[in-house]
Amino acid sequence: MDLYTLARAVHILALVHWIGGVAMVTLVILPAVMRLAQAEDRLATFEAVEARFGVQARVSTLVAGLSGLWMLWETDGWRLFSDPGHWWLHLMVAVWALFTLVLFVLEPLVLHRWFHARAVAAPEAAFLLVLRLHRVLLALSGIAVAAGVLGAHGGL
Ligand code: HEM
Repeated sequence: MDLYTLARAVHILALVHWIGGVAMVTLVILPAVMRLAQAEDRLATFEAVEARFGVQARVSTLVAGLSGLWMLWETDGWRLFSDPGHWWLHLMVAVWALFTLVLFVLEPLVLHRWFHARAVAAPEAAFLLVLRLHRVLLALSGIAVAAGVLGAHGGL
């Protein structure tokens, strides 16, 4: 097996874990947590899930980015970024950069404290906002996955 194919398999494995986890949090865990009767239970449960998945998502985001770079390196594919037909590569990198910013910078430095304070003061509004933001991130990720598969296999 060549290194490019191996990097592609690693890329997809990391994406399945990362984007699959985002889908699980957005479509299953958050709506279930928002139905819990006690506001303190909602916050404690959500923070426990996010803490556990957050660490794992950092690893899979890193692996997805490194394997993507590996594929570009192997094929010397940098020039593809100036080809308008490869717009889907820009989309992948933009989605990756957005998640990297949120997971490595904004969440630990700002978002965690900000959400905790808002969820104590106004739990309904805070959870609704977080659910909406997760939906936006999931939709963008879904578009990037579909565009990546179509783009890599000549479908665009
Ligand atoms: C730094 C970030 C990333 C880089 C440098 C990168 C780079 C690449 C490269 C070079 C390919 C191979 C294209 C080809 O064979 O023609 C690829 C494939 C792919 N990437 Fe990414 N990618 C990144 C992040 C992402 C993200 C965030 C997603 C989705 C949310 C994604 C989804 C995909 C998919 C679905 C494929 C197609 C795999 C296949 O069907 O063979 N990538 N990526």
